[in-house]
Amino acid sequence: PETPVKVTVTGAAGQIGYALLFRIASGQLLGADVPVKLSLLEIPQAVKAAEGTAMELDDCAFPLLRGIEITDDLTTAFDGTNIALLVGALPRKAGMERGDLLEANGGIFGPQGKAINDHAADDVRVLVVGNPANTNALIAQSAAPDVPAERFTAMTRLDHNRALSQLAQKLQVSVTDIKKMTIWGNHSATQYPDLFHAEVGGKIAAELVDETWLRETFIPTVAKRGAAIIEARGASSAASAANAAIDHVYDWVNGTPEGDWTSAAIPSDGSYGVPEGLISSFPVVSRGGKWEIVQGLEIDDFSRSRIDASVAELGEERDAVRQLGLI
Ligand code: NAI
Repeated sequence: PETPVKVTVTGAAGQIGYALLFRIASGQLLGADVPVKLSLLEIPQAVKAAEGTAMELDDCAFPLLRGIEITDDLTTAFDGTNIALLVGALPRKAGMERGDLLEANGGIFGPQGKAINDHAADDVRVLVVGNPANTNALIAQSAAPDVPAERFTAMTRLDHNRALSQLAQKLQVSVTDIKKMTIWGNHSATQYPDLFHAEVGGKIAAELVDETWLRETFIPTVAKRGAAIIEARGASSAASAANAAIDHVYDWVNGTPEGDWTSAAIPSDGSYGVPEGLISSFPVVSRGGKWEIVQGLEIDDFSRSRIDASVAELGEERDAVRQLGLI
């Protein structure tokens, strides 16, 4: 029998974990013929809740699920892991300074990066969901010098999917009619959803909508959607975040379709003026199990200023964690 792929989920007892684990176990993360075993990492106080989720996973009798481990130990969780979904993070609390937030998360993502470095499988792929996702990914990556840097990624696929949906509703088309959407920069309010390369029926999306809608409705709606969900639901996005994590890993492993691309935050190689090493969102394709930045796109002045602003924020976050000695 085929060896199962080990998938580690941190923050497994949280709300994204609850929306994510069942979809992984059902075969949606990797493919309907790939057996998986799950490792659920939690803090000690939440291990019992994770055990409850594991009971429910058992009760689904998923044919592809070959085992579940629940632990608060980093070595156990990441031992031999092929896919690490780093979801658990410390949320920003009222009155917390940004430096405090980065420092607290450094205490989580540094040790996790080191455990991945020391114990994960050679082909390990890491997706950071926990916020601030791009910078947490940078912290984990810098603690894992033996793992190729490109294996550390952060999630902007939720922003990408939000952009697809907003544009589809505006133009009364199906999301499948839209190609080449891009989110640039940081997974934060400065992110830049780009309609100047997105295509709808072969036409450039920015030419199908009025400029005021693009600037004053589309961009802020996508960038502030997370806050709107909290306002409406009384809790942050969970099922849609889990869905985006599934999309990100599925495409990374299985490839993106010809004639289209997606968005993911991956280590910059200097493309589009993004300083090398920053984990920034780009238009990407996945080929042979690797993300590649789509090259050769022309960037107009408006897009340039938006991309630069978000990338500058990433640079400031990197400087801050450097000063704290976290990278
Ligand atoms: P949650 O608070 O429901 O769950 C987080 C879980 O992580 C908790 O069960 C907690 O015990 C656990 N945890 C905390 N520290 C841990 C550690 N050191 N090791 C293992 N587990 C740990 O939060 P939720 O809603 O599941 O969100 C998780 C993260 O995802 C948050 O940081 C949130 O901001 C982020 N997020 C990111 C999105 C993106 O698009 N990149 C979208 C939505 C949420």
